[in-house]
Amino acid sequence: MMKITTKINLLTTAWMLCILILINFVVFLLFMKTTVNMEKDILFQKAGDIIKEINTTQPSNGLKGELEDYLTEHSYIRIMDQKNKLIYEVTNDKLLSKKMKGQSTLIKQTKTHLISTEHGEEEVLIVRVPFNNGNKTLEIGERLRGLEARKEMLRAILIICTVLAALLSLLGGRWLANMIMRPIANMIKTMEEIEKSGVPKTITVQNKTKDELQTLARTFNRMINRLLINMERQKQFVSDASHELKTPLTVIKSYANLLRRHGIENNEMAEEALKAIHSEATRIQKMTETFLELATLEKENVLEINEVNLVNLSKDILKQLKDVYKRDITLHYEGIPIIIRADELKIKQVIIILLDNAIKYSNDRIEVFLKKDQHHSIIDIKDYGIGIPKEEIDNIFERFYRVDKARSRETGGSGLGLHIAKSIIKLHKGDIKIISKEGTGTNVELLLPINNGNLNKL
Ligand SMILES: Nc1ncnc2c1ncn2[C@@H]1O[C@H](COP(=O)(O)OP(=O)(O)OP(=O)(O)O)[C@@H](O)[C@H]1O
Ligand SMILES: [Mg+2]
Repeated sequence: MMKITTKINLLTTAWMLCILILINFVVFLLFMKTTVNMEKDILFQKAGDIIKEINTTQPSNGLKGELEDYLTEHSYIRIMDQKNKLIYEVTNDKLLSKKMKGQSTLIKQTKTHLISTEHGEEEVLIVRVPFNNGNKTLEIGERLRGLEARKEMLRAILIICTVLAALLSLLGGRWLANMIMRPIANMIKTMEEIEKSGVPKTITVQNKTKDELQTLARTFNRMINRLLINMERQKQFVSDASHELKTPLTVIKSYANLLRRHGIENNEMAEEALKAIHSEATRIQKMTETFLELATLEKENVLEINEVNLVNLSKDILKQLKDVYKRDITLHYEGIPIIIRADELKIKQVIIILLDNAIKYSNDRIEVFLKKDQHHSIIDIKDYGIGIPKEEIDNIFERFYRVDKARSRETGGSGLGLHIAKSIIKLHKGDIKIISKEGTGTNVELLLPINNGNLNKL
């Protein structure tokens, strides 16, 4: 497996080299071109001067000597007639002159020409200027020896620079790749540790700048924290649940013992024991059913959303409960249909949980109001019972929480009702509000948002 750092590093360096080579090539070409152009200008200038000189002196008056004054190192000056026949030549470079014999016929105004010399290939610059009404031509040729030297130097500089840049890029790339990879490597290490130990754990966020890597680390940590919370909840639930089951089981066990010791003969006692055992067993049964329910609720996204007519739904529930409990429960609504988008079965369950509490914790009549405000459909359940102490209102939504354990024991609750109701309403993006006064009664308001969008996508 090739490490991603190595990959990034090699790729950036290769790319960098490509760019550098291209730039070097362009620089080199431009340099050559401008230098040759400069030399050309100088030669033309010289040619102009020479022609002026020729025109002012008499042809027989030692033209050769004059021309020799114009010679620079490694060059020649020629004058030719119309048919390109050599009239004069002065040179201080025999080899150049020899090599360039006859070449001049082919050129127009300027030309560079490669000749091989004792130092290898060398460039020669030639310019031609006609004069004397085109009857004669002046030609100057010059070996570009300086250019050769500068060319070599430039090439060396460029090569050294390129190698240096590649090295720097390699180092820089390594540093960059390391910087990017460190948090990822960190994360991998942590994940491996989690995998080995089975214990979720967060990573330390190192770089302080806000970037994707930090987001990645933070997201990872958030996920781990959620897992930790869930695990903690699970643990808590198991311990709470076993604790809850312990009491009825102890009761059952002691009554069973009683039966075994004195049992069957003592009819009255047997009757009492069996009754208690039956009632506790029923309690356990109900409780386990609730546990299962809670487990499915916590899976989230379990809603089956439909349009629900709250008036009809409430009527049905009230009818059922009235029949079973023989209590006075009245429904008040303003005659307008109240339609919500919700999971009908779940909402029904919430209403039953709330009514069950109202029935259990009061003896008077119970009233249910269906209302609507700007943003919510509201189900308001009112009882005139024992009420809830103010400081307990926040607690009663906790799992297994009951205000008065002894009292609730008689009414046979497990303290899960409101917790389940709250979870369901939370899934619907709604809210439960409780207003209560001890000894006077309780008012539970169920708020369901009218515009709750696509609930299952939340
Ligand atoms: N309408 C009410 N009047 C007075 N107290 C209430 C009322 N509703 C809830 N409570 C108090 O809040 C506690 C928690 O209620 P919750 O419905 O969660 O549990 P429960 O009724 O005890 O048991 P479960 O509903 O699981 O059978 C109750 O034990 C009770 O003390
Ligand atoms: Mg309840």
